[in-house]
Amino acid sequence: MKVCVIGTGYVGLVTGVCLAEIGHRVICVDKDNKKISLLNSGKIPIYEPGLKELISKNRSSESMIFNSDSGSGIRQSDIIFVCVDTPPNPSGHPNLTAIDEVAKLIGSSINSYKIIVNKSTVPIGTAKRIEKIIKDNQTIDNNYDFDIVSNPEFLKEGEAVKDVFFPERLVIGSDSRKAIDIMKKLYEPIINQDFDYAESNSNKKEKIPILITDSTSSELIKYASNAYLATKISFINEIANLCERIGANILDVTYGMGLDSRIGPKFMKAGIGWGGSCFPKDVRALRYTSEEYGAPAGILNAVIQVNNQQKFKVIQKAMDMLGIIDDKIVGVLGLSFKPDTDDTRESPPIAIINKFLELGAEVRVYDPVVKKYPPYMDSGATIVDDPYEAIDGANLLVLVTEWDEFLNLDYKKVKNLMKFSNIIDGRNFLNKEKLQDIGFKYVGIGI
Ligand SMILES: NC(=O)c1ccc[n+]([C@@H]2O[C@H](COP(=O)([O-])OP(=O)(O)OC[C@H]3O[C@@H](n4cnc5c(N)ncnc54)[C@H](O)[C@@H]3O)[C@@H](O)[C@H]2O)c1
Repeated sequence: MKVCVIGTGYVGLVTGVCLAEIGHRVICVDKDNKKISLLNSGKIPIYEPGLKELISKNRSSESMIFNSDSGSGIRQSDIIFVCVDTPPNPSGHPNLTAIDEVAKLIGSSINSYKIIVNKSTVPIGTAKRIEKIIKDNQTIDNNYDFDIVSNPEFLKEGEAVKDVFFPERLVIGSDSRKAIDIMKKLYEPIINQDFDYAESNSNKKEKIPILITDSTSSELIKYASNAYLATKISFINEIANLCERIGANILDVTYGMGLDSRIGPKFMKAGIGWGGSCFPKDVRALRYTSEEYGAPAGILNAVIQVNNQQKFKVIQKAMDMLGIIDDKIVGVLGLSFKPDTDDTRESPPIAIINKFLELGAEVRVYDPVVKKYPPYMDSGATIVDDPYEAIDGANLLVLVTEWDEFLNLDYKKVKNLMKFSNIIDGRNFLNKEKLQDIGFKYVGIGI
């Protein structure tokens, strides 16, 4: 099928290349000309395992092309995927400027029947909003039919390619039988797990469940899923904080809880809290929607509040270890909001680093892939190229992102380089016993 993907960010780029790989002809467009030039020169603007190789393969076979002319991409395609950003407004309600812009362009460019598939995470009612904007921008000369489908994306950054090829479910929300049938056909190789890439891949599944529903339920499934996952983390962090007071160990507590199949072991890691480009904005957006419709959001309020406080547990622990923070050297390992991604949007490490700076510390940060200053990080911190440089002469090492690379550091060397052997492990990631044997004072979260 001929597909146009609008927005070549984390979702659009991965969606586009995966659709190309399963046999469709994909035009990926973005209003950011620089991004398109970069992609056309073979460079990938984001870090995502496996993405570069897959894009290179599908560009060479010409099943995927990049273009900054969205109108032309729309006209040449039967199915339009909308994968633009929906950042939060200060109120918590998502900013739908990009969605509206795309809907207007579709309205003015439509030249045959099209299916508009919304993959961006959007508030309840957005499918209807897109429909109205498209209609408002059609003229008597291009009054073609179209259908809107809500098809939320559940990929996880760092595992995005795997998640799109081998998803746990596909959700299709539409009231058009015709559009639903075409969407099933589009996704058939994924639903049946019948495509070349899957053959040699250990993640291949038997069959992918597909849920057909209305667009409102589909939009809510996405928000409610992210809010539920954030709730699990805030809940377990609250239990971790209790563990510290009563002398229990959160690792044993979560293991014991997770053995109950009704609870399960996933999303039960205590730490510095959730962040990233999705959870914070989606939880706030769901709270906004709940309040807008007069449905109290008591749980979501608590989930947000616990998370806001959790980041600063590290600061409290640093004060307990060092006393006054002013003039101390803090080496920070990690900057992305989780490993295997370069995404620093609403990354908890940034809030922690800014707080250390505010308290007068000298902060040196090492991350395996984030090498540029992220927005909202105070410029006082230094980003270094080597983990040992970050901790050279430091009073304290703080681990904030659980990159595998940090497991394999030479911790004897680390100890010799540091002024004082203090480690705060904000992710309970390192081997506590091993570090204590080397002579570190080790502090985790709830252990
Ligand atoms: N990143 C994730 O892990 C993830 C997972 C699931 C869902 N989502 C949702 O998917 C959406 C996209 O997220 P993302 O992380 O890929 O965003 P992103 O910021 O990485 O990418 C969005 C892209 O859209 C482009 N764009 C904006 N307006 C445009 C327009 N009018 N025409 C053409 N291109 C335009 C931007 O230039 C940018 O390249 C958001 O709603 C997000 O909540 C994200």
